[in-house]
Formats: sequence, C-alpha cells, structure tokens
Amino acid sequence: TDDATLPHFERAGFGFRVLDTTPGDPEARRARVGVFTTPHGDVPTPAFMPVGTRGTIKGILPRDIGEVGSTMILANTLHLHLRPGEDTVAALGGLHKFMAWKGPILTDSGGYQVFSMADISTLDDDGVTFKSIVDGNRIRLTPERAVQIQQRLGPDVFMAFDHCPPDPRDRVGVIEATSRTHRWLARCATEHEMAGGVEGTGQALFGIVQGGAFPDLREASASVIAGFDFIGNAIGGVSVGEDRESMRVAVEAAAPALPPDRPRYLMGVGTPRDFFDAIAAGVDLFDCVTPTRHGRTHQVWTSRGRINLRNAGWKDVDAPLDDVFVAPHVKDVSIGVLRHLCLSGEMLGATLLSLHNLALFHQLMVMIREAIPKGELTALRDYWVPRLERRLT
Ligand code: GUN
Repeated sequence: TDDATLPHFERAGFGFRVLDTTPGDPEARRARVGVFTTPHGDVPTPAFMPVGTRGTIKGILPRDIGEVGSTMILANTLHLHLRPGEDTVAALGGLHKFMAWKGPILTDSGGYQVFSMADISTLDDDGVTFKSIVDGNRIRLTPERAVQIQQRLGPDVFMAFDHCPPDPRDRVGVIEATSRTHRWLARCATEHEMAGGVEGTGQALFGIVQGGAFPDLREASASVIAGFDFIGNAIGGVSVGEDRESMRVAVEAAAPALPPDRPRYLMGVGTPRDFFDAIAAGVDLFDCVTPTRHGRTHQVWTSRGRINLRNAGWKDVDAPLDDVFVAPHVKDVSIGVLRHLCLSGEMLGATLLSLHNLALFHQLMVMIREAIPKGELTALRDYWVPRLERRLT
C-alpha cells in the first residue's frame, strides 16, 4: 500500500514508520510492517531481539549477531549493575563497545528481574531492596536509580522500572502493581527529562503496560502509558505462567490502546505461535531467551518439527539440520555430528544450535514481513505453527 496516511513519527534520531498493513477488514489490518529507526541503525519490524543478559548473547560470537539476522539486541540492567557495574561498562566504552555490536541495543530495567529472581527484603512505593545474586550484598533499586544506571550503560532504548504483578489473575494484586508501575513511570520520565530527555541523551525511554490477565486493566494501563508520549511502548507481565488464551486476551486489549505511530514491544515472548497472535494484534517487537536457552539445552525448532538430538535415531544421519531455515556455520554440519557435539558436551554444539534457533526466529520474521502486505499472515501461521511445533522423535 502506498499510503501517506500510514502512521509515522520522528524525534531526535529515533523514528517509526509503518510501511504496510494487511489489506481488508480493520481487524486484520492491525498487523503491520514497519521500520524502527534508532541512532545506531534501523530495525525492520516485526522483529525478534535476542537476549544478551550479561552483555553477551550466550554462545554467539559478536560477528555472527548480524550474520544470523539480528538487528537489535537486549541486555539486562540488573545483571550488569551487579557485575561488572555500570561504571565499569562506561569505563570500557559503553554497552555498544562492551558487546562489540554497532547496532541498536535495548536494556531491560531490572524491574522484572528483581521480582522474578531476587530475594526481596523490602518493597514499597519508593523502590525495592533485595540481596544480590552475585555476592549477597543488599541492593536498592528505585525508578530513579534504574534510569541512572541505564543512562550510564548507554543503550539506545531503555525500559521503565516497573512492578510485574506476581499473579496475573489476582485482581487486587494486579491493580496494586499496575498503579505502582504508573507512579514509577512518572518518576522514570522525570529522571530522564532531568538528564536532557531523548534530545539530550540520545536515549529513548519506553513505558511498560501491566494489568495482568484483565482486559479492562490492560486497556486502562495502555491509555496511561500512551499519555506519556514515549518513543515506544511495551507490554509486560505476560508469559508468567498464565495460559495462552489469557495472554492473547491481554495483548489484544493493550496493543490497540497504544499509539499506532510508535513501536509496540511485547516483553519476554516467546514462541512462533505467540508471535503470530501478537503480530495480528499490532505488536512490532519481541525478545526472549528461548532460542539461545533451548540451543544450550540441545532443543531445536526445524521446518519439520522440534528435534531432541539426544535420541539415538539421529546418530548416523548425515544430512543438514534444516534446509529451509539455514543459519551461518550450521549448514556445513550434519545432524549426526551436531548430536555428537551435544552428547559430548562440546561448546560448539550449544553455539551451533543457538545460531540455528536464532536464524529460524529471524527468518520466520522475514516471512511474516512479506506475508502481511499480501494478506497472507493467517495462511503463513496455519502453515508454519503446526510444522514447527510437531515433535520429531
Ligand atoms: N520481561 C518480561 N516481562 C517483563 C515485564 O513485565 N517487565 C519488565 N521490565 N521486563 C519484562
């Protein structure tokens, strides 16, 4: 579609432009193809962002990040704050140099990580105190601290410090965490503005929608977040143990209430099936540890199904892992050799399988970007999801 009315905006080296949507009825038109511009380059959307928690995408050489199809990558504030510390990352040249990656980087705020992994001693409206998972020291994070740490780390995009409700179905708990997330968001925005905002720092702050499994709370939270006029907006608090249907309902309530001319980012998701649901609801960005974590534990998606390489049936198979989704370096190694590397605990096995899973996720996004303008998103989903989810023995 050549349509000057397609949503787009630009500010201080950042921008987002919707290039195409699905023709036809407005429901189906929520899926969009776009480009998210950052000071370190462009990200074609929908896009999947691999996770480099401690400043490295586990097992992946920096030079292969772009080669495998990644355009934007993540790191985690909490982990880097604990070790080696943001001052050290800054002394070592900032996060781009630290990760040897010239493209766009996003950091998560630590909010979610504190709640999901740390031993919390106090949580109040001011912030959170918890025990360091590295050395047991007492650590205090507040919205202001989380912003300051991320300013020091130096990503292109950084996330607001939020409170992800522990149980998405406990309405009282969800309301409490969601209103706290909104109050914390205002403090994050103020802290960012005091440092010069996006113009002064070259960094964009993204807000995060909470609201648990309740569509009304999701929509209300999205409206609050939308009121801040951020460069981009995220949906958090999903994939925390709820069923797929609850997640779909939450995303479908939140996404349309977020501004159409800003990228929408669904945090911590997920699997091919999740991508199709969320993209159909208007989501543009995803991140998840799945491709690398599964790669390290020797689980792979392929165009013919999911493979457990431990099974003896693969022992003598002298064929490539996949001839549809092909990753750099992996195409030269047979399934039988991959199985041997995994069973012997060789590092190369984890690396090659992580590369393969990443390539598959990125190449699926390419197919999705091609399918949306042709009105073929649903057909693509119906073709690939059952194939990718099939369990091969
Ligand atoms: N990663 C996955 N879910 C979340 C969330 O709700 N908040 C944050 N900050 N990060 C996440």
